[in-house]
Amino acid sequence: MSEKFVVRGSGPISGSVYVPGAKNSVLKLMAATLLTDGTFELTNVPDIVDVTIMGELLAELGVEMLRPAPGQLLLTDTGDINPVAPYELVEKIRASINVLGPLLTRCGEVRLSMPGGDDFGARPIDMHVSGLEAMGAEFKFSHGYLEARCERLHGADITFDFPSVGATENLMTAAVFATGRTTIDNCAREPEITDLCNFLVAMGANISGIGTSTLVIEGVERDELHPISHHTVPDRIQAATYLAAAAVSNGELDVLGIRPDDMTMLLDRFADMGLQMSPVEMAGHTGLHVAAPDRLRSIDVATLPYPGIATDYKPLIITMLSVADGVGIVTENLYPGRFRYVEELQRLGADVSTTGHHAVIRGVPRLSGAEVKAHDIRAGAAMVVAGLAAEGETIISGVHHIDRGYDDLVGRLSAVGASIERIPG
Ligand code: EPU
Repeated sequence: MSEKFVVRGSGPISGSVYVPGAKNSVLKLMAATLLTDGTFELTNVPDIVDVTIMGELLAELGVEMLRPAPGQLLLTDTGDINPVAPYELVEKIRASINVLGPLLTRCGEVRLSMPGGDDFGARPIDMHVSGLEAMGAEFKFSHGYLEARCERLHGADITFDFPSVGATENLMTAAVFATGRTTIDNCAREPEITDLCNFLVAMGANISGIGTSTLVIEGVERDELHPISHHTVPDRIQAATYLAAAAVSNGELDVLGIRPDDMTMLLDRFADMGLQMSPVEMAGHTGLHVAAPDRLRSIDVATLPYPGIATDYKPLIITMLSVADGVGIVTENLYPGRFRYVEELQRLGADVSTTGHHAVIRGVPRLSGAEVKAHDIRAGAAMVVAGLAAEGETIISGVHHIDRGYDDLVGRLSAVGASIERIPG
């Protein structure tokens, strides 16, 4: 059933909010359990729809998932792996591409429905394919499926043109039991990649250069790997969402469970906008105390691979700039088409224009509530934040996108005083 969110701009939010683990880590950790038999435990797992979908895909492939308690997953790789990932599941989440590397290296063959694009544009996988080819795989495309085969993969020296998150993850998991050494240069180094590296190392993989732009993976034998228990890295994008919500509502919030060191560049820019932030420790969790100024100041921002400002933060930043004092320019360097939500912000009275991969935002004192649509996960969260900055009622449709990546956004925001509810669509 389709549902909507109703948000009413109702003044400052205040209190504390706990941020769970990262969608873009946990989905990759789940895929990596395909590497070896046995039962894995993941904790700090967000309760989001994408975890359910990845669980369904893994079940199809031969890994059973249980959720014994909130935030906990038990994944049992039965050893009976069927390396075929069907269209109905693959088309639902981009992260399904992450089963390619583990399945290929483990089974020597894989048949994967071609992952689709997103509302913000095409999402090619040429770097995944050419990297695996350099390691000895052969690919064929037929009837919408990507088919790959290999004898045991071998190590290779791979240099990326661009630090792709997904390609880095697929190649490093594939390299875990390739023969010899694989070097991935100009690789991505997002905190979620580091989390996956740490997960693989704890399983018995041999990886060095973790956290840098050159990863070196020495292949090990399959019987050297074993299942483990792992705490998922906190979600920096959900964290930024609560900081943005505090910022536009003139609020004051303790955002807990997060790792500010994973968000340094963003936090510097938030400070430039006038947010006051300081470390906080509460109920056994570390985090940040944030206090908003009377009015945010405009800044210019460009998105870049980590440690730069993530493209996933951008809809939140543009929303904040919509009500800031002055003019800000935001440049998108990853997905040129990722501006569709700007039309929705304009419906709320934001003064934003886009040309090519730039957006120019002239801040207005207040937005005004209207009916808007969530086009993707991050754009949807930005609509919620915009609703908090708007007079009157903002009704957001397409909230199934938000549910894919946000763990109880409505409950968490309500608990800190926001007026937000979920209604039937
Ligand atoms: N690219 C290629 N060829 C490839 C791979 C990537 O041209 O083979 C290009 C893409 O088209 C894009 C750029 O490289 O222009 C970045 O793509 P990347 O591979 O780094 O992204 P991804 O792994 O597909 C992940 C996140 C995205 C996030 C990007 C960038 C997951 C499941 N998705 O995607 O998150 O925007 O990294 O940080 O981890 C989201 O969570 O809402 C989301 C879209």
